[in-house]
This record gives sequence, C-alpha cells and structure tokens, in this order.
Amino acid sequence: MNENTQQLIAQLRSIVGDAGLVTAAEEQASYVKDWLNKWHGRVAVVVRPADTAQTAEVVRLCHRTHTPIVTQGGNTGMSGGATPDDSGAQVILSTTRMNRIRAVDPINNTMTVDAGVILAHAQDAARAAGRYFPLSLGAEGSCTIGGNLATNAGGIAVLRFGNMRELALGLEVVLPDGRIWNGLRGLRKDNTGYDLRDLFIGSEGSLGVITGAVLKLFSQPHARATAWVGCDSLAQLAELLARTRARCGDRLVAFEMMSAASLALVLQHVTDTRAPLAQPARYNALIELADTEDLGLQAMLEELLGQAMEDVLVNDAMLCTNGTQAAALWKIREGISQAQVRAGKLIKHDIALPISAIAEFVEQAERMIAACELQAEIINFGHLGDGNLHFNVMIPLSSSYEEVQQATLQLNRLVHDLVTEKQGSISAEHGVGQLRRDELRHYKSPLEMELMLRIKQAFDPNLIMNPGKLL
Ligand code: FAD
Ligand code: MLT
Ligand code: ZN
Repeated sequence: MNENTQQLIAQLRSIVGDAGLVTAAEEQASYVKDWLNKWHGRVAVVVRPADTAQTAEVVRLCHRTHTPIVTQGGNTGMSGGATPDDSGAQVILSTTRMNRIRAVDPINNTMTVDAGVILAHAQDAARAAGRYFPLSLGAEGSCTIGGNLATNAGGIAVLRFGNMRELALGLEVVLPDGRIWNGLRGLRKDNTGYDLRDLFIGSEGSLGVITGAVLKLFSQPHARATAWVGCDSLAQLAELLARTRARCGDRLVAFEMMSAASLALVLQHVTDTRAPLAQPARYNALIELADTEDLGLQAMLEELLGQAMEDVLVNDAMLCTNGTQAAALWKIREGISQAQVRAGKLIKHDIALPISAIAEFVEQAERMIAACELQAEIINFGHLGDGNLHFNVMIPLSSSYEEVQQATLQLNRLVHDLVTEKQGSISAEHGVGQLRRDELRHYKSPLEMELMLRIKQAFDPNLIMNPGKLL
C-alpha cells in the first residue's frame, strides 16, 4: 500500500472511526464481487459512513484527493454497477450503516428513510403503520432503497404501482463535491423548474450518493387471489393479460411470465419446488390480483380463467386457495435467478418492448439464435405485464472466458438490434452498469449521448463518481 493510500485511510478513519472502515482483504471479499459472481475488483478501502454528514465529509475528501468512489448498497445489482475496477485505486462507499426509518407520515401517505434501509425493512415499517410500500423483487431481503433508486428498480408490481421513479417523491443526495442537496420533499405537485430528483433516479451512482428518500405509501391490500396458468403461445398470454386488465382494472398487481425452460430450470435446481400443472406448458404465467378488502376477488379470477379455458386461450390453470399455495408459486418465480447461476453461464438481456410486439420478437429471436449453432438454451421469463423480458441465453458452465465473451458479442448484437428495430429498450430495469455500457453507446443517438455526458460533466467535473459505469 503506497503512502497516499495510507494517508487516505487515516483521514477516512478520522471521519468514520474504526467501525466505518473495512481494510482487511478477506473482509472486503463480499464487497468486491457482484451477486452473479461475474465481476471482481479490488479497492483501497471500503468506507461505511453512519449518516449523511459523514458521507458528505467522505465525499469531500475524495473530491479533494481525486479518489474514485463506487457507491454500494446491498450489492444485488445485475449489471456490475456496484463492483469496483481492479486498479485498487477506487473506494467503495457502502451505505449499509445508514439504515434508519426517519419518519412515517400516514396522513401524507409518505415515509422518509435512509438510503441504506433494506427494501424488506421499508415494507415492514410501512406495514407497521397500517400502510403499504409496493416495490417488490426477489432481492428485497438484501437490496437497499438507495440501490433501488439508483437503478430505478422495477420488480413484480410495476404494472399496478410503477417502478421506483414513480414511488419516490423526494431525495437527499451528497453531490460529488461533498455538498448536500436536501430535496426531501413529500409533495405530489412541485413545478419549480428542472426535476433534479429524476436525474438522480436511475443514475447508477454516477452523479452523487443518495442518502435519504421520501417514498409514497399506499393502502394495505388485505385480499389476494393468485393463479398459475399454462398456454401454448406468448400471443395467448398477451391476450389473457389484456383481458385480465380489462376485467380487473387496478386489482391486477402482477402478471409474470415463465417459459417451459425457465420453469424446468427452477424445478431442477431449487429445492422444495414442484410443477404447478399436471402437463408442462410452453408458456406459464403467475397472476396476482389484490384489493383493500375482499369483494369476490377469487371468484373474479376463477370466472376469468374459466372463460379463457373455454375460449382455448389457456390450457390449464391452478387457482390458489390459501397463502401457502401462493407462496409456493412465488418461490418458483423468484427461484429463476438463482437456478440460472447454478445451471450455466449467462448472457443476460433485460429488454423492454411494446407488449403487442413481444410474441413476434421472441419467435424471430429464437429462430436467429438457433441459426447461430451455439450450445445455448434460451431462458425467457419476466414481467410480461410491463413488456419486460429477461431474455437470457445460457451456455454450458464449462464455457471458457473467451467463449462467453464471443457468444456475448454475437448474441447482444442480434438481440439488441431486433429490440431496437421493434422500438424497444436494451435495459428495462437492471440498468447499464458495466454490462451494457458499450451497448448504450452503440444504440443511443449521438445527441442523447452528448446530453448525458454534459449532465455528468456538470455534476461531476472530476469524474470521481462510479467511473467506467453507465457512460
Ligand atoms: P447495488 O447492487 O449495491 O448497486 C446498484 C447500483 O446502484 C450501482 O451502480 C451502485 O453504484 C448504485 N447505488 C447503490 N446505492 C446507491 C446510493 N445510495 N446512491 C447512489 N448510487 C447507489 N431488479 C429489478 O429491477 N427488478 C427485479 O425484479 C429484480 N429482481 C432481482 C432478483 C434477484 C435475486 C437479484 C439478486 C437482483 C434483482 N434485481 C431486480 C436487481 C436490482 O437492481 C437490485 O436488486 C436492486 O435494485 C439494487 O439494489 P442494491 O442496494 O443491491 O444496489
Ligand atoms: C427477476 O425478474 O427475477 C430479475 O429481475 C432478476 C433476474 O433477471 O435474474
Ligand atoms: Zn426482473
């Protein structure tokens, strides 16, 4: 360790104390690799400030010394955004000690939290106050509100409640020079110029460190109805989605799709899971309705699915009669990420498309991928209700680094060209990070890239915030 690094660590220690520093390599291990175990880096130190004031002092020091900062929350991101490079010159700023629920305001229907609060704890705090915070995703037991904001996370209830951008009213941010922007306003209307909040949401640690947020709350759903359905085609599922929306309106909270291959992977790799239907279907959907009180939700879903079966839109369906059955279905859906990591090497695509274009996209993409003659399996699942597919391609676990790289280049071009042709997006909810940085440059127009780079320059002229990610 050189003298400058030693000096930096000593100065950081004087700000955050021993409890706020992780210096031993073995203790840094879980911070310097990502959840998918795809990216690995090295850092001078991991610094864990206890509050906004300490964060501001840490960032001010990094600004003065031109030290690059990688902000990290729960480290569950899927695009390598929270993993440092391997230079050893970067510092990880972990928000996990900033985990206070600052206030719950049931009259304003808002909650103010530290950015390091774990999503599940935010949900619990809302529930304890008789309210509901609806962001929900497989990593909710470890991801943080700051990470959810920085990636504009989506998850399983976006079709009803929107993504994180729609769930946040105000932010507190430490800017790259260490000043604190207090935008913690709990307002639903505020037309006073450019929306700075919206710039930080989805900025993936590149414009500042989010330290606090005001979140929207909703009424607790006390009634739920859950079903699993099997269909022959994605076109049928899209038609069923449209019918469900028309019939159930805002009661429809989740419409998740899994291909036969995705389901088979979970059944093979996740313990205590079993096939919901007697006969495997090419496409499956997990549908959930919810309401503040039970005004016949179950009957509504039963009638809807009965009609769909009569019309040969759906082959088979399983309607849950209790919470245990519903939890077993959700376990299958949420097991896909883990099952994929266990089964092979992944080339991940997190795409958004108009829902009406999805069936045709998948048919064309599958044909093109088959023609590549790779030893590849398509693991297609996702949030059909949002037009968001995780159109992943899995190649054998034994594939070498070079084989993965080569297949990634080939398949990214093929999939993302087709997505672009159909007016879609190459990242729906996981963000750009380091995974899609070159793809972003390839697909964004020069004008959009220029505007984004100018914003970056305006906020972070020393380019210390998460270099090498996003832009
Ligand atoms: P991290 O991984 O720590 O960081 C992610 C990015 O945000 C990085 O660029 C980092 O620099 C930045 N960042 C983190 N905190 C801050 C902060 N306070 N200020 C500024 N920048 C910050 N995502 C979905 O959208 N929908 C899903 O359904 C979904 N399901 C998932 C299921 C599993 C099993 C897993 C492992 C992940 C899933 N994700 C999903 C990925 C998702 O992006 C993350 O789980 C979550 O939003 C990231 O939060 P985090 O605290 O772990 O952030
Ligand atoms: C999901 O919807 O399960 C995710 O976003 C995670 C993944 O893509 O693995
Ligand atoms: Zn997802």
